[in-house]
Amino acid sequence: MTGNILGERFVVVSFGESHGKCVGAVIDGCPAGLPITQEEIQRELDLRKPGQSLVTTMRMEGDRVEVLSGVFEDFTTGAPICLIIRNADIDSKSYEKILGTPRPGHADYTALEKYRGFADYRGGGRFSGRITASYVMAGAIAKKLLKHVLNVEIIAYTMEIGGVRAGPFTLEDARTYRYSNEVRSPNPESAELMKKKILEEKAKGDSVGGVVECIALNVPIGVGEPVFSSLDSELSKAVLSIPAVKGVEFGAGFEAGRRRGSENNDQYVVENSQIRTITNNSGGILGGLSNGMPIQFRVAFKPAASIGKVQKTVNVTTMEETDIVVPGRHDPSVVPRAVPVVENVTALVLADLAIRGGLIPPVLGEKTTLRKIPQ
Ligand SMILES: Cc1cc2nc3c(=O)[nH]c(=O)nc-3n(C[C@H](O)[C@H](O)[C@H](O)COP(=O)(O)O)c2cc1C
Repeated sequence: MTGNILGERFVVVSFGESHGKCVGAVIDGCPAGLPITQEEIQRELDLRKPGQSLVTTMRMEGDRVEVLSGVFEDFTTGAPICLIIRNADIDSKSYEKILGTPRPGHADYTALEKYRGFADYRGGGRFSGRITASYVMAGAIAKKLLKHVLNVEIIAYTMEIGGVRAGPFTLEDARTYRYSNEVRSPNPESAELMKKKILEEKAKGDSVGGVVECIALNVPIGVGEPVFSSLDSELSKAVLSIPAVKGVEFGAGFEAGRRRGSENNDQYVVENSQIRTITNNSGGILGGLSNGMPIQFRVAFKPAASIGKVQKTVNVTTMEETDIVVPGRHDPSVVPRAVPVVENVTALVLADLAIRGGLIPPVLGEKTTLRKIPQ
């Protein structure tokens, strides 16, 4: 399997399987001198971890991060940073039973064909939502780097779940409320309706999809490396690497395809001596470069494939059609747990492109900040 590396200068290798020993990430290229504590990484992981509420899987994992290298006395050293969480709450028996009968909508069939049965199938192996813990732990460091050097803030929240849309909200609402409710809605009243919808479908043995919106604030002008590493293409690639993501749209997105230029162009004005645009239909990106407005995009998640209803599948050994009821513990909607994943994947891309664009130096701080040299 190749394809587990993201980034060119802030490079992340994601590793681990759902029911293996651990899930983790190695970061190569993180500047030295970034203050970071284990608690800061843990805070991000806690937002993603399973077993937190009735609207997520009941798999109970502590997800305690272990920082194995690259951080010394709460500062990055410039060496590769290795981060892991161990897998504990594992029950692989149900996966053995369905090994030859792929779950509709999951990666079982494609993985079985491509890796000829060698891929770790337990709990979905490398195709489990659990691998997104590696994006989050690495993203926690990228997020801190962006905040520390550029004051970038990344805010994602649930726009829609199972057709229930978030009611009106401000950016401040999103900042305040998104992690104060189980579904990560920026509007607490909508949160109740979204939760109700998830639980209704869960009771029927079904699952629901949804839409996450992400905003990155204070991104300097010019982040992005056109053409093939443009900001939108790099973000799209990273976001589409989150399992269950089926679409991404920036700014006005697909709606732009139905508009006139006069309706869609973001016209320029001067605000506090800075060039801004009146609207943000471009989602803060022009020509693959950030334009100083908030980066704004939406991500569509499909409903979780593992559902409790009877579905048709095929026994790949006998080639006979058969029925399957997917066993195990699953997310009735992946959306609530995916919100911090979207935030952290965004941080990974922005950190990489900011370093590539020369906006973040390889070593942070002044020489005078050296703590260890005896005077
Ligand atoms: C945080 C998170 C949790 C997930 N949990 C589940 C789950 O419980 N059940 C499930 O069928 N899919 C779950 N998924 C999605 C599957 O991993 C994904 O649908 C599968 O690997 C097939 O890939 P694809 O949908 O991108 O084609 C989850 C995804 C994420 C991001």
